[in-house]
Amino acid sequence: MSERIIIQGGKELNGEITIGGAKNAVLKLMAASILLNDSCEIYNVPELTDVETMIEVLNHIGIQTKYTPEKKHLYINGKTLSSYEACYELVSKMRASFNVLGALLGRCKEAKVALPGGCAIGERRIDLHIKGLEALGAKIRIENGYVIAKATKLVGADIYLDRLSVGATENLMLAAVLAEGSTRISNAAQEPEIVDLANFLNSMGADINGAGSSEVIINGVKPEDLHSTVYSTIPDRIEAASYMAAVVAAKGKAIIRNVFPNHLNSVTSKLTAMGASINLIEPCTIEVSNYSRPKAVDLVTQPYPGFPTDLQSPFMSILTIAEGISVINESIYENRFRQVGELRRMGADVQQEGNHAIIKGVDHLTGAHVKASDLRAGAALIVASLCANGISEIDNLQYIDRGYEKLVYKLKSLGANIKRIDAECLHPENNANINEIYTF
Ligand code: EPZ
Repeated sequence: MSERIIIQGGKELNGEITIGGAKNAVLKLMAASILLNDSCEIYNVPELTDVETMIEVLNHIGIQTKYTPEKKHLYINGKTLSSYEACYELVSKMRASFNVLGALLGRCKEAKVALPGGCAIGERRIDLHIKGLEALGAKIRIENGYVIAKATKLVGADIYLDRLSVGATENLMLAAVLAEGSTRISNAAQEPEIVDLANFLNSMGADINGAGSSEVIINGVKPEDLHSTVYSTIPDRIEAASYMAAVVAAKGKAIIRNVFPNHLNSVTSKLTAMGASINLIEPCTIEVSNYSRPKAVDLVTQPYPGFPTDLQSPFMSILTIAEGISVINESIYENRFRQVGELRRMGADVQQEGNHAIIKGVDHLTGAHVKASDLRAGAALIVASLCANGISEIDNLQYIDRGYEKLVYKLKSLGANIKRIDAECLHPENNANINEIYTF
């Protein structure tokens, strides 16, 4: 079934929403569960297709799972692990499944994981993962599209990452948990999701220090030191910031619950510079409001604690209607301006030169029929549609469903005119009541 989101823009957003667990944290916690010859429970697990895919990956290697969406609870039984192979069909669906490599190698001393290949937003190499695992003693070869890794034993090592990489830092942490001796990862990425992974691993008996700084030390433990755990995932900072962007673009006032405000410092600083107000009203609740045309700001995407690449596209949508000219420099990925063509169809004035985009704010966008090309480009189109005049229709929802749980429900709670329909019903043969579909 091909589904479509329809939005009638230009309505202020007012109300309350609750943010879900962080996609990019929970997927790694799920990979980490492979290390455990026991069961574990994870709470605050969002209902996302990427979570479903990771469940499939775990099931494929014999690990039993039980997900209860109403409780946001995931039970994982690592005792039933029966294979060390993650196939192409699953890894190509979602790059995060490549993180099972470190955990499988750690537990089985052997792993065969499909190479994820490039993806829509950039080349996304894996050289740092491979170099780091080799430093721990693994012999690695690439054959028939698979990374095949083996080790008689893994031994802790000093590993310097030439470039900040979230996935490589995490894969190496996972492999080092059961290695002999200590591993030091220098120039490690510092994202909150890495801290969450370390906290989860420590809660099951691992010995990791320094996560969240540029140097992570993993003191190897024995398999029998790892034990069952119950853990709750951190809130999704990217989801939270995407809704903050929507409120600033469409105007209004929203209370956003289940956020860790200190994970949002770079976001809050940019939104404040645009003219929005952001107030902490409880330790994990913020209120964001904006009643005037946003002001232009310049953005450079950077590893954490810099401004996240995952928010570059939704923030570009705000800047398309800002007062003045903004420049965005995308420094992480080669191809992450895929929203630009669609935003232009909505009347945006964006000029792209290499990894720079120059955005001249226009008075308003106009609704159009557009297509998401990846997850965050999809979020950009949602933000743009909410502030545009008239009706927008957004296709390719499979991308948005990967990372935004119950998006239509959450935006409706903020008063947005939004609905999700089966696009087939618009086919002339289906005699649907077109007026009803486009009435809010
Ligand atoms: C994670 O991807 C996130 N994904 C991405 O979120 C996010 O954009 C990215 O980190 C940066 O914050 C998950 O956590 C599942 P990297 P990851 O390794 O780990 C280069 C979203 O929208 N690099 O930090 O794959 C790479 O090409 C997604 O939710 C190498 O050169 O990102 C990229 O340019 C998209 N060699 C840069 O580093 C390597 O071996 C950062 O990549 C590894 C990476």
